[in-house]
Amino acid sequence: MSDKHDNHHIVPLSYYYFTLGGLLVLTAITVGVSYFNFGSMAANLAVAMAIASAKASLVLFFFMGLRWDSALNRGTMVATIAFLAVFFFFVGADLGYREEWESGTKYAEVKSAAAAASMAEIKEWERPSPDLVAKGKELYLGAGGCATCHGNAGKGDGIAGGALNPKPRNFEDNSSAWTNGTSVQSIYVTLTSGIKGTGMAGYQAMLSPKDRLALTHFIRTIIPDPQGNGKVDAQYASILKDKDSIGEEGGASSQSKGIPIDLAIDQMLKEKKK
Ligand code: HEC
Repeated sequence: MSDKHDNHHIVPLSYYYFTLGGLLVLTAITVGVSYFNFGSMAANLAVAMAIASAKASLVLFFFMGLRWDSALNRGTMVATIAFLAVFFFFVGADLGYREEWESGTKYAEVKSAAAAASMAEIKEWERPSPDLVAKGKELYLGAGGCATCHGNAGKGDGIAGGALNPKPRNFEDNSSAWTNGTSVQSIYVTLTSGIKGTGMAGYQAMLSPKDRLALTHFIRTIIPDPQGNGKVDAQYASILKDKDSIGEEGGASSQSKGIPIDLAIDQMLKEKKK
């Protein structure tokens, strides 16, 4: 019992050396394991937190004399360190799955795998086909949310586009009026990176390369002169003839809903503030 009284306890010098030695060893281990990948970010974090807890315990128990303190105080401190480690673990694990931390996280791997396409596939999708145009139309009216701004028929008169400045592009405008242009590559760039300073966002994170090319082809079926030479494009004309429903005007009931409405409202609020 004499060890556990509440009076001031004089910590033997040997304990200080023991603590110092322990801390140096654990620091060396910390640095060592930082070069080592335990297989997942959660495992790396758990190891780091375990070592940090051991170091904190050493300091508290021997350097600060907790070892000779009451059982209640010891228990409280140990629980505090443990909870702190668990807290850091969850904060770290959560941060690691956010987009800003893209490099090296599982999340980024999954995302880039979903967006990956081989060069040969891209080359194939660069050519218009009835399937791609149909897929593009489906995305345009549905999940892509394009119609909310550009209108079901692509005239730039969607419900969410009214307050935007500049207005959403009317796809029936002649090629020369377009900001980025109407070639397959130009529209692909627009869909990938957006147009700075306008309501047109980049869709690299939301749509796969194939989806972006499908949308590109669908939109080019609406443009009067997609090649920028004042003439109709024969390829698109024949696709439209085959599938005569493609490109027709959708009813108000097929107005798409989803995230891009929030985006448009955001944009409208920004415009209001100006
Ligand atoms: C929040 C409203 C909004 C949404 C949603 C939206 N756009 Fe746009 N888009 C715009 C605006 C505004 C412009 C005009 C930019 C300009 O004039 O430079 C534009 C321009 C364009 C252009 C023409 C670029 C040029 O060179 O002039 C294309 C193509 C386009 N959008 C395609 C799409 C597609 C495909 C989608 C869906 C995946 C989409 N947009 C979704 C607002 C939107």
